[in-house]
Amino acid sequence: MSGHGAVIPMTSQKCGALTGQADVPGDKSISHRALILGALSVGETRIQGLLEGDDVLDTAKAMQVFGAEVIKHGGGAWSVHGVGVGGFSEPDCIINCGNSGTGVRLIMGAMATSPIVATFTGDQSLNKRPMARVTDPLALFGAQSYGRSEGRLPLTIMGANEAVPVHYKVPVPSAQVKSAVLLAGLNAPGQTVVIEKETTRDHTERMLVGFGAELSVEDNAKGRIITLTGQPELRPQDIIVPRDPSSAAFPICAALIVEGSDVLVPNIGLNPTRAGLFYTLQEMGADLEFENMREEGGEPVADLHAKYSPNMKGIEVPPERAASMIDEYPILSVVASFAHGVTRMHGVKELRVKESDRIEAMATGLRAAGVTVEDGPDWWHVHGLQGYVPGGTTAATHLDHRIAMSFLILGLGAENGMSIDDGVPVATSFPIFEPLMEQLGASIFRTGA
Ligand code: S3P
Repeated sequence: MSGHGAVIPMTSQKCGALTGQADVPGDKSISHRALILGALSVGETRIQGLLEGDDVLDTAKAMQVFGAEVIKHGGGAWSVHGVGVGGFSEPDCIINCGNSGTGVRLIMGAMATSPIVATFTGDQSLNKRPMARVTDPLALFGAQSYGRSEGRLPLTIMGANEAVPVHYKVPVPSAQVKSAVLLAGLNAPGQTVVIEKETTRDHTERMLVGFGAELSVEDNAKGRIITLTGQPELRPQDIIVPRDPSSAAFPICAALIVEGSDVLVPNIGLNPTRAGLFYTLQEMGADLEFENMREEGGEPVADLHAKYSPNMKGIEVPPERAASMIDEYPILSVVASFAHGVTRMHGVKELRVKESDRIEAMATGLRAAGVTVEDGPDWWHVHGLQGYVPGGTTAATHLDHRIAMSFLILGLGAENGMSIDDGVPVATSFPIFEPLMEQLGASIFRTGA
C-alpha cells in the first residue's frame, strides 16, 4: 500500500531509441470490477490477467473482509467465491483502500444497500478526495454516512435496512459515481435509473450484463439512461482482463518523444469510452497505428504501434473527449511539451480531484522543467518546445502514480533528464513499469537509499 513506507526518489535520463514490445498489465478499472462483481455472485468467478497493483490488491483484501473467498493462483490467475447480492457480512476491521478512489467508491456502493456498517480509510491522497459525490446518492437508497468535512475519509457507512431504488442524475462526469449507484442498486428492489450527461467508461454496465443482471442503456436528449433491475442473482463468470490502455499510454508516448523509437504495444482495448488519448495523438500527427484491429469479448482491440514523431503539433483537445481520456492528460501534457505549438485542454475540472490536483502537479513540474504552462479552474495550455525540453529538475509526485510515470517519461526525451521525489506510487497501477521500460531501452533509475 502506498503512502505509508519510505519514499523512492527516481531519475530518468535522455536515452537512445526505445525498441521492442511492451506487454502492459491488466486493466485497473476492469480488475476492480471483476473482484467486486465476483464477490457479489453466487459461486466461483475465475479471473485471468488481473492487475496485481496495490490498488487492486486492496480491493481483493476488502472483498475478503466482506466475506468472499479470494484466491491468488499465480500468473495473474485469481478466483473469487462470491457471497451473492446482499450477502456481504459486516467487516470486523476498517477497510483500507490505500490510494484507490475507484476501489473505495465502488465498494461503498456495493455495501450501502445491505444492513451492515463499514468504516473506510485510505492513504493521505485518498483521504483528501471528495466522497460526498458518492455518499449523497447512497443516502437516497437509505444509507447513512458519517465522515469528515465534505464526506472525506475516514468515513463510516451504515447500509440501508430496507433499501429503496433511486433515479439519479450524476452531477459530475464520473464512472466511479455512476458505478457506485449501480452497485448499490443491485440490492434495492425494483428499478434503479442512472442518468449521465457525458458518457464515461462503461465497464460496470458491460460487466453487470455479463454477470446476468437485467440492465438496459438508452441514449436520448437527456443523456445516457441506464436502468438496472435490482436483486438479481449474479452468475459467476470466467473473465480475461484486457490490457490497460491507460498504462499503454506510457510506453507509447515515450516512443513518440525519444528519437529513433519503434515500439509495439499489443492487445490494447480500444473501448471508445477509454481510447480518447490515442485519437488525440493521431490528430497531433503522431506516428501511431492501430494494427490487427479485432473484436475480443465484444470490445475492439488492437496492437498499437508507435514510432518517434518529431513533427507533432499542438491541438485543441475537444472537451467532449475528456471523459474518454481523463487519466491520460498528464502524459498528454508531456507529449505536448515536445510538440510544435500550443496544446489546449479544456473541460477538465475533474483533473483537480484525482489522486492529486493533476493540473497543478503537472503545471508546476513542467514549468520547472522549462515548459510554459497556463492554467485555470478547468483548463490548461501547454506550449510545445519543438523537441527541446530542458528538464533537469525534480518534480513532486503527490502520491500520484500517473504524475510519477509522466515525469519519468519526460526525462527520457529531455536534455537533462528528469527526477521525481517519489516513485512508490507507480506500483498502484503499473507494478512492472520499471522492468518494462528498461527492456525497451529506457534509462530509469532509483536514486534513493
Ligand atoms: C475510474 C474512473 C475514473 C478514472 C479512474 C478509474 C473507474 O474516475 O479517473 O482512474 O474505474 O471507474 P472518475 O470516475 O472519478 O472520473
